[in-house]
Amino acid sequence: MGQRVNDLMGWVDARFPLTKMWEEHLSKYYAPKNFNFWYFFGSLAIMVLVIQVLSGIFLAMFYKPDTALAFQSVEMNIMRDVEWGWLIRYFHSTGASAFFIVVYLHMFRGLIYGSYKKPRELVWIFGVLIFLALMAEGFMGYLLPWGQMSFWGAQVIINLVSAIPFVGEDLGIWVRGDFVIGDATLNRFFSLHIIAIPLILIGLIVAHIIALHEVGSNNPDGVEIKKNKDENGIPKDGIPFHPYYSVKDIVGVVVFLMFFAAVVFFVPEMFGYFLEHANFEPANPLKTPEHIAPVWYFTPYYSILRAVPSIAGSAFPGVIAMGAAIVVLFFLPWLDRNPVKSIRYRAGWYKILIALFVVAFITLGYLGTKAPTDMRTLVAQICTIYYFAFFLLMPFYTKMETNKPVPERVTMK
Ligand code: HEM
Repeated sequence: MGQRVNDLMGWVDARFPLTKMWEEHLSKYYAPKNFNFWYFFGSLAIMVLVIQVLSGIFLAMFYKPDTALAFQSVEMNIMRDVEWGWLIRYFHSTGASAFFIVVYLHMFRGLIYGSYKKPRELVWIFGVLIFLALMAEGFMGYLLPWGQMSFWGAQVIINLVSAIPFVGEDLGIWVRGDFVIGDATLNRFFSLHIIAIPLILIGLIVAHIIALHEVGSNNPDGVEIKKNKDENGIPKDGIPFHPYYSVKDIVGVVVFLMFFAAVVFFVPEMFGYFLEHANFEPANPLKTPEHIAPVWYFTPYYSILRAVPSIAGSAFPGVIAMGAAIVVLFFLPWLDRNPVKSIRYRAGWYKILIALFVVAFITLGYLGTKAPTDMRTLVAQICTIYYFAFFLLMPFYTKMETNKPVPERVTMK
């Protein structure tokens, strides 16, 4: 039996580099031995992607991308008639929020351990592109149930396109496929959501991991393990990804699935944060909901948009600020001038700046879910200024840091 399997593998390997790929990316990919909690989120993001694709395939079997049928097909057919349909829908709606929770934590890990720095700039850039694709995916998916918030949320965002001077009006029509959000819009969002963007996402994730495996993983000490190799050329502080991390990641998966199942079975709406209450009413173009707010994962950026005052009634400055808040992430590898990667060996006050950044980001997120008042707008403006100052002043303040000595080899605290 064993010989037969070996023969088969030999036959395959002579035609396709299966063993070579397995070794390069798993059994002989040497990852630093000091990975901690923060290193669970990359593999968890892959798992959430699989959940989304699988649940999405089954939802698409019953969903109807037609403005006259969409709401019913979700709320009546999938949620009530189709066997286990409710479970598949809650997997998908909870999965969307879980995706952003996991990805935000994954990005934060990159920020605190300086994983965006040389030689991982491209790993980071592919990451930011993934983040953009994920936002597009979430936005288009949210229109599909054709509830009040699907319709009015899309209305607000597509109107932002129309705020662009000169071409905005035409661009808005081009995006909607009509003068108003309607059947044409729903059909194209469906097509983009179930095929185009997932393909782009998967392609970007493959590129992200190929780029990472080319340079090797960073770690909580920010030490390059490739600088210390043994006589066989294997990093002294590295351990094979498989079986060590493939097994360790299962712990992350199990703990994650416990939280995930708890939400799916007990609080799938998450008090209106994962599924907004207004979306249990069918879309009605003649009735604007009292308060329009995007889903929580967009609200930090939505807050930035609202914090910037309009000029002559045009929301364009806000649109620019919102776009810039994401675009600035691409430049992070060049904004941070400190050669030390990990926060462990950087100045104490830099840790405070990062902590304040987290506070500002969460505050923006919270304010984005609320109707604006003068006070809230002021707080959002302060947080927006902090958000941009944190990044744009980096070239100056990161040069003034007094670092702690970085160890030669990784530590096992
Ligand atoms: C669908 C979304 C994503 C998936 C599936 C994904 C997957 C992964 C995986 C499997 C790893 C290696 C394991 C680990 O270090 O945790 C990784 C590393 C990394 N990812 Fe992502 N990622 C995603 C999104 C992002 C985003 C949005 C960013 C940043 C904007 C990013 C930045 C990074 C960086 C810098 C590393 C290297 C970390 C290090 O070596 O310390 N990723 N990613």
